[in-house]
Amino acid sequence: MFGPHQKIILHLLDIPKMADALKGVVMELQDSSYPLLDSVVATTDVQTAFLHINVAILVGAFPRGPGMQRKDLLKVNVSIFKEQGEALNKYASRDVKVLVVGNPANTNALTALTKASDLPTANFSALTRLDQNRAQSMISEKVGVSVENVNNVIIWGNHSLTQVPDVNHGYISNYPQRDLVSPIKSAVEDEKWLNEQFIPLVQNRGAAVIAARKLSSAASAANAIVGHMRDWLLGTRDGEVVSMAVYSDGSYNIPKGLIFSFPVTCRQGQWSIVQDLKISPFIQAKLELTTKELEEEKQVALSFLN
Ligand code: LMR
Repeated sequence: MFGPHQKIILHLLDIPKMADALKGVVMELQDSSYPLLDSVVATTDVQTAFLHINVAILVGAFPRGPGMQRKDLLKVNVSIFKEQGEALNKYASRDVKVLVVGNPANTNALTALTKASDLPTANFSALTRLDQNRAQSMISEKVGVSVENVNNVIIWGNHSLTQVPDVNHGYISNYPQRDLVSPIKSAVEDEKWLNEQFIPLVQNRGAAVIAARKLSSAASAANAIVGHMRDWLLGTRDGEVVSMAVYSDGSYNIPKGLIFSFPVTCRQGQWSIVQDLKISPFIQAKLELTTKELEEEKQVALSFLN
């Protein structure tokens, strides 16, 4: 995640109920003899966990249980991410890079950011790289190419059922033969599949994993976290576009102040939103739906915050 030579001090925070399990995690880390793991601080104390950290990966959130309304879920998570935002504000390094993974990730990130008013909004993000990876993997299977040849699929909006996977700016490299480039749409040759099957498959993939495992995605989420942070810190490749949910500056007419997944490039530890992509009417209609959902979530979260 930080390159092949960067040593790390890992701070692990869990709730008191999980303190014993946390000890077990530390044992496994020790037993892995990771050469880049300098030391581990395992704690149930928020101040100890957040003190001087440079990177925060906020994985823990309250999961939605049977019969629980989205609003109830937001309420519990607002209290978790309010505390974490305050702790980031007080104790973390001023250039801390924050990645929220726990759902509802975009709005949890917005809650944390709202309570960390001394930190730049650009320090906060939520994970949609998992959706991008899922989408690129599905395209690779459909076209019959290696996933490394599928580039620049974009995820817009919320990490939820309204997310918008968009292949219109993506391309397949070395296709149909070496050194040639083909737009994804031409390589797939099946617009109906792209519009009617691919999009819902990506949107529902998290739920499909839960249905199969009876647990949320874990390894693929961890892999997406690594990709997201590595690109943010070390930079994207020339011409490479990745998706990150970040604080909207009004680009693409998305209201300012939402944590919204955009196509970005990263350089020297800063992300920037890719501008001037042409948005088709089909995608535009979907952007409006995901924006509406995020605005509603924001209103509910703010009402609990205040
Ligand atoms: C995922 O996309 O795998 C998860 O966000 C699903 C979930 O609700 O935990």
